[in-house]
Amino acid sequence: MKKVFIETYGCQMNVYDTEIVRSVLGKSGFDFTESESEADIVLLNTCSVRENANNKVYSRIHNILNGRKGDGVKIGILGCMATNFRKQLLENPKLPIDFIAGPDSYKRLPQLIDEISGNGVTNGAAPKNFDVTLSEFETYSDVYPAQDGGVNAWLAVMRGCDNFCTFCVVPYTRGRERSRSPENVVDEVKRLAGQGFRQITLLGQNVNSYRYEGHDFADLLEQVSTVEGIERIRFTSPHPKDFPRRLLQVIAENPKVCKQIHLPLQAGNDRVLEMMNRTYTRKEFLDLVDEIRTLYPAMVLSTDIIVGFPTETEAEFEETVQVMETVEFDSAYIFKYSERPQTIAQRKFPDDVPEEEKTRRIVKLNEIQKRHSYHKNLAHVGEIHAVLLEQESTKKSPDDYLGRNDGNKIVIVPKGSYRKGDFVRVQISDATPHVLRGTVVG
Ligand code: 5AD
Ligand code: SF4
Repeated sequence: MKKVFIETYGCQMNVYDTEIVRSVLGKSGFDFTESESEADIVLLNTCSVRENANNKVYSRIHNILNGRKGDGVKIGILGCMATNFRKQLLENPKLPIDFIAGPDSYKRLPQLIDEISGNGVTNGAAPKNFDVTLSEFETYSDVYPAQDGGVNAWLAVMRGCDNFCTFCVVPYTRGRERSRSPENVVDEVKRLAGQGFRQITLLGQNVNSYRYEGHDFADLLEQVSTVEGIERIRFTSPHPKDFPRRLLQVIAENPKVCKQIHLPLQAGNDRVLEMMNRTYTRKEFLDLVDEIRTLYPAMVLSTDIIVGFPTETEAEFEETVQVMETVEFDSAYIFKYSERPQTIAQRKFPDDVPEEEKTRRIVKLNEIQKRHSYHKNLAHVGEIHAVLLEQESTKKSPDDYLGRNDGNKIVIVPKGSYRKGDFVRVQISDATPHVLRGTVVG
């Protein structure tokens, strides 16, 4: 039996896709190993969203090959780099990879591997094989991902993106939006509940653009919430443009839907937002935040921000600062703009904000965010939160559990006699910008 080692980079969708790949290959008789040195096939499920993610993969390929010179190991590239860098990957003689499969081609993996195997040619000289066709239909609705037992199960309800934000490579690497039927999603949620999962996180590149024959994302949340055994429902990653009132009401009112919304701002200036093709203005974003907080004042809000987008001036950057100060997000992922091949920004705009300036801006925003996160977390001290215990905390504190509250904040508690998957009530006694600590009170 051939042994496969898979390494995953990038977003949660990629982690999920790795489980799809494991399921597809497992059914075709492949075995898996946690050790790359004993693998016959090494798969790298790659990310292309920013340049450093790309570079990590290139250095990893060299690293694997140096350790395994000439021993016939087959290397396959999956994920977003597969689509976006197919030519470079296949034609670069210094990168002797054997096959490439894009995000919609995983069902063909056994065949691709079969075609490059058994030809007796060592790695590098073998004929290369690839399938990076993007599909308008593939949702893997008939593949059960090989999720290891746990507390949270991921479930991709839609794939692809039609928004074409000008900085983003995803519409090119993952193709058009398509959604699974609500019946199919609910069936899978029932199966996962039967396996003991207590929380479901619905996934999609634009999860709240979900649409299937007249059913929208609000309908889907309501249907999923009827499944017994599932106590918490989360979703990621949404786009601010797709939050109609009814969806906000379902999130605010349905007890199973967690009170947490990721709301990627990207920038706080209207000219930059327009160049990014985000389709909302600063005011529309702030109005949405107000509407959310009117419906549910304690909603936990997180965001994504890009600094140093082409032509962004200091004054425009300061408007991002102002939006952050106005909203006070609970957490934020802040990125330096990274030019991506094929994107509209790469074709039309100069990457003209100097690296040192991008660094200065990102440092500034990270400092602001740290202050806000700390402030928000300190406000929880003294409260009692429902916490779902997820895993042993860290190697350093083996006597603690790491759990999450409804708002997805990490809560550390002493283990006591509790078990993973238990719901406990925790009195919060301490906070840092990143975690809450407390003791179980029942
Ligand atoms: N440069 C920097 N950040 C990017 N993101 C997407 N594309 C780029 C890029 N070219 C960020 C966005 C998005 C998150 C997933 O990654 O903030 O919301
Ligand atoms: Fe990229 Fe924009 Fe689509 Fe998100 S919505 S995946 S940032 S193009």
